[in-house]
Amino acid sequence: MNRTVFIINGPNLNLLGTREPATYGHETLADIAALCGRSADKLGLKIEFRQTNHEGELLDWIHGARNRCAGIVINPAAWTHTSVAIRDALVASELPVIEVHLSNVHKREPFRHLSFVSSIAVGVICGLGSHGYRMALSHFAEMFQERTA
Ligand code: DQA
Repeated sequence: MNRTVFIINGPNLNLLGTREPATYGHETLADIAALCGRSADKLGLKIEFRQTNHEGELLDWIHGARNRCAGIVINPAAWTHTSVAIRDALVASELPVIEVHLSNVHKREPFRHLSFVSSIAVGVICGLGSHGYRMALSHFAEMFQERTA
């Protein structure tokens, strides 16, 4: 069975570590990628981990994941609150999606309370920092286990 999880990150997340550390912490995106790699090894999953600042590129990646991956973990960053196109691409992929945010978006500005992705996601994890990515992977591992049981 395909156990590849596509972990995709939206705009400005390449700046983690130096970007608003009081909100997003001190870990870099490379730290989070390494953390996800270690978790995936333990859980028997494969991952592809990417980030882009270009919405069209993210759309192309989601389209390409349809026949290659078994699930998507996405931190759409600012596009969470603006992009119907990303939501539509995720639906078209027909893959289960888990939405992750490092910060608790509900504690922040009102414009961050709306997500175009949440209503089509299996689940949403926010406010737990990089731990949210590990929780999402752990959920996929259980989901795939149940499918093969
Ligand atoms: C974020 C929250 C978004 O509102 C913000 O635009 C981001 C990061 C998070 O991980 O907490 O860039 O997705």
